Amino acid sequence: MRLLFKVGLTVTVIFLLFSTVGLFIADWERPPMEQEQLGFRGTGIVQITNPRLKAETAGNVVLPEVVDAADAAGPRARQVYQNVQVLGDLSEGQFLRLMTAITEWVSPEQGCNYCHNPENLAEDVPTKIISRRMFQMTKAVNQNWTNHVGQTGVTCYTCHRGQPVPGEIWFRGSSGQPPMGGLVGYDGGQNKPGENVNLSSLPLDPFSEQLDSPEEVRVVGTTPLPVRQGPSIMKTEYTYALMMHMSQSLGVNCVYCHNSRAFAAWDQSSPTRQVAWHAIRMIRELNQSYINPLTPIFAKDKLGPLGDAPKTNCGTCHRGQAKPLGGAPMLRDYPELNATILTPVAGAGPTAPVEEPRRPVPDTPVGRLAPAAPPADTPPPAQEPGRPPSQTR
Ligand code: HEC
Ligand code: HEC
Ligand code: HEC
Ligand code: HEC
Repeated sequence: MRLLFKVGLTVTVIFLLFSTVGLFIADWERPPMEQEQLGFRGTGIVQITNPRLKAETAGNVVLPEVVDAADAAGPRARQVYQNVQVLGDLSEGQFLRLMTAITEWVSPEQGCNYCHNPENLAEDVPTKIISRRMFQMTKAVNQNWTNHVGQTGVTCYTCHRGQPVPGEIWFRGSSGQPPMGGLVGYDGGQNKPGENVNLSSLPLDPFSEQLDSPEEVRVVGTTPLPVRQGPSIMKTEYTYALMMHMSQSLGVNCVYCHNSRAFAAWDQSSPTRQVAWHAIRMIRELNQSYINPLTPIFAKDKLGPLGDAPKTNCGTCHRGQAKPLGGAPMLRDYPELNATILTPVAGAGPTAPVEEPRRPVPDTPVGRLAPAAPPADTPPPAQEPGRPPSQTR
């Protein structure tokens, strides 16, 4: 009897010890949590947020002061300066106002000289060539992707936040795990906690294939019984990894976009899912048409381990908030970044700013109340291109 008591006591003490230690080392969030019902009663579509984390993220947002508006009259920048290729239609005042603003947004510490040779402002140094392309990219987002960014739009600050290199970027192979074949197999960098996927046991690089190539994201079968070989389990894990990244970047749960009883069903999803659908296509365009072609221009130490350019994902703009910068409509004060004012450019140098034709995107109206018709459903490819079928796990 005494022995039993002793054993029982020891077990209890060990248990208490471990739970106490656990309290301090585990990454847990203390209650109370905030709950917001987003869907119909009883469907469990409830957004759960930690009010303290939310306040911290919101508190980290610093909005730069708006530079006073400039006179739109007077000679055009293209007449005043020697080498103005995209901002030529602005007045001199508007042009210099924009230069002041981008210095504040991108290189406040380094100043104008981050992009300029002070001896000759007209000279095209690499950071200036990159910025010129960034102007076109920003304009493309504000003009062509209103189905994602709405009227809120983006400025350089949405991504840069006062730093030449945005806080969240990604590279190919950033999981540190190059693809391996043969007996070693390919673990996709799994089972090593990675920040990209909120420390889950999922592939660490969900981006290369889904945000830098038109790879199908959807994996759920569309027929009651399998009619042909569907996507592999590995492919499914990449989709889930991307979903973890999306939730993490926006600071939301899965039910912010999905009805968890049927993840695939568009007619049961929240309208925010369609906003996100456009984002995936938008990011592919940003990476493929604007950033990747700049690879030879970037300084060598800015490139990734596999020699690729630093790229964008949801976190680059969102940084933990469902609307970047808490939805601050910064673009309103800088209509130059939205306007058709930006002159289309005829070929200039290696990064000749070609206006890429937009990939066709179904124009789905997005309203908070009524979920609109889902984007065209393309069946998943029978087999993943580029990966041998044996590599399914
Ligand atoms: C983040 C990069 C960046 C910063 C910082 C920057 N510029 Fe510029 N600047 C550019 C780009 C890009 C162009 C070319 C625009 C075009 O082609 O339409 C340019 C062009 C110019 C020109 C025209 C030169 C010519 O003769 O062709 C002037 C003048 C100028 N900038 C002044 C400034 C001043 C003053 C500052 C600091 C307050 C500044 N810039 C900061 C990127 C930058
Ligand atoms: C969608 C997000 C996004 C927007 C909007 C954006 N940028 Fe960038 N920018 C990036 C990324 C990603 C890089 C690559 C980071 C790196 O250089 O390591 C970059 C790089 C740069 C660099 C080169 C930094 C370096 O030293 O390598 C400059 C300069 C720059 N951007 C200027 C601008 C200007 C000016 C604007 C606004 C007209 C702008 N960016 C808008 C995402 C963005
Ligand atoms: C910000 C909105 C958003 C969030 C948050 C989100 N998803 Fe998704 N999800 C989407 C979109 C959009 C698609 C379709 C992507 C496409 O077709 O390119 C999708 C697709 C999926 C699919 C594939 C459906 C199919 O038809 O095959 C699954 C499974 C899924 N999500 C699960 C999740 C899980 C689990 C979470 C939480 C970890 C989550 N999602 C969080 C927007 C979201
Ligand atoms: C170029 C910057 C940028 C990138 C990159 C970006 N977003 Fe957004 N997103 C925005 C802006 C700006 C808004 C606010 C639009 C508005 O106010 O209507 C927004 C809004 C949203 C919303 C609607 C939020 C709400 O509560 O209405 C969702 C969902 C969303 N983004 C998902 C994503 C996902 C998922 C990704 C990555 C696949 C992504 N975004 C990448 C700029 C971006």
